[in-house]
Amino acid sequence: MPRLFRASTVFFALLFLFLFAMIRPCAAQTDLNGYWEMRTPNAGGDGTFRETYFEIQQNGETLSGMLIRRPNGIPIAGTFKDGAIHFATVPAAPPPATSTTPARPPQRPMAFDGSYEGGKLMLETQGRNGLVKSVAEKVSKEATMPPAPLPLPELKDLPDNGLARTPPMGWNSWNKFAGRVDDTAVRGMADAMVASGMSKAGYIYINIDDTWELGRDANGNITSNKKFPDMKALVDYVHSKGLKIGIYSSPGPKTCAGYEGSFGHEVQDAKTFAVWGIDYLKYDLCSALDIYKDDAPTLQSIYQKMGQALQETHRPIIYSLCEYGRAAVWTGWGAKSGGNLWRTTGDISDRWESMDRIGFSQIKLAPYAKPGHWNDPDMLEVGNGGMTADEYRTHMSLWSLLAAPLIAGNDLRTMTDETKSILMNTEVIAIDQDPEYMPVTSVLSENKIEVLMRPLHDGSVAVGLFNRGDAPAEARFARSNLPANLAGKETKVRDLWKHEAVAMEGDGLTATVPSHGVVLLKISAH
Ligand code: GLA
Repeated sequence: MPRLFRASTVFFALLFLFLFAMIRPCAAQTDLNGYWEMRTPNAGGDGTFRETYFEIQQNGETLSGMLIRRPNGIPIAGTFKDGAIHFATVPAAPPPATSTTPARPPQRPMAFDGSYEGGKLMLETQGRNGLVKSVAEKVSKEATMPPAPLPLPELKDLPDNGLARTPPMGWNSWNKFAGRVDDTAVRGMADAMVASGMSKAGYIYINIDDTWELGRDANGNITSNKKFPDMKALVDYVHSKGLKIGIYSSPGPKTCAGYEGSFGHEVQDAKTFAVWGIDYLKYDLCSALDIYKDDAPTLQSIYQKMGQALQETHRPIIYSLCEYGRAAVWTGWGAKSGGNLWRTTGDISDRWESMDRIGFSQIKLAPYAKPGHWNDPDMLEVGNGGMTADEYRTHMSLWSLLAAPLIAGNDLRTMTDETKSILMNTEVIAIDQDPEYMPVTSVLSENKIEVLMRPLHDGSVAVGLFNRGDAPAEARFARSNLPANLAGKETKVRDLWKHEAVAMEGDGLTATVPSHGVVLLKISAH
């Protein structure tokens, strides 16, 4: 018996080794060469997917190729061994710092691990909230290419739609919720907008950002995904609260988060938005950049196409251009294409460095804004927890001096008293919403101190003393900087955060400003 057992063991071991030797080269020889479409479920459980494309080159057990992005892909490198796949992106080193732009941190590689099963790659990658599973299948090279550009309209100046005489005020879902926004959150935000007093302070628009979209029905009409079961009912609900509602789309086939865009359906989508009762559209360039040229006339034409489609619905819809400040949108073509506001920068994040860099780079653009056509340095982060109260007061003061749209980006249902006191400081909001727009100017910029001044319709001026440094510092406003109408006059000064009068004696006023903080003043004739 033991002999027999040993003999059979040896036999099976040899058989196994033989089979393994046969199979192993087969697995290693599985041909991964070619183009792959990877489908990843979107966050928020809305049943939608986003596609990523790879070109893979296999050389023995070594993988190389590209994560296909336009205009430039990101190289990938990895291995395919015994059916197990591992590869990661190899991001290029960031450009060195210049005198005007600080060095950027290097991009983190994205790593994909998984296996080859029945012609598919089963991949896992680390997402923001844990492991994300994706499935990739081979496709043709053509399937990885963007569609051909569509003909764009001849350029013309669209008439002013008469909206946004002062910078729009409201709330937008992106900064706090990103892909997790849904019908319940939006209704909750509308309730809180009224209950908290925000609507009384002037915040009127409840704006749904990216990730509401599903696809198109048989007639080509855009549809919402299961996070938004009935868009018309949601719109009616928000309107019933005395508020207005905004939505989001892209001139490309895909939005920035990879959802359905308006490419080739611009007129149809504008009509759908109007039928739903939408009052505000944020139109985000995203994948249109893969298709069209990145120059002022092309961008103007892209935005004019939707601008005209919105105007032809005859519904008053605020038109918010989001193309991250490309091709100097503020110099004229943004307004000509029907835009009421245009982003002037990339995305803000809830960090001092981001807000500080964006905010203080905007002063030179202030002369380009005018009633109906505003610079948009991105939405507010106040109340999202990544900055101190002083930093958030700087954010709110700076945005108001710039006449930036005041679009809150926090959870309005759970605001602390401090957050409320910042977002609902009506004296600060009054600067932002001044009925006769005059641009802010820099009075002084040295040693991390910025002194900004903006004339207001009643002959007064708003003055911000900002300290961008890491320690408290003194900042001075010299009386000689007052405009002609206040020069030589007796003045009164009010601190708009302390809500109290301040004395200005002699030739100016000196204040101690906390690190990253602001002293915001209104100076008027006695
Ligand atoms: C871009 C925009 C953001 C937001 C996201 C949504 O990054 O700049 O404000 O709308 O897209 O995907």
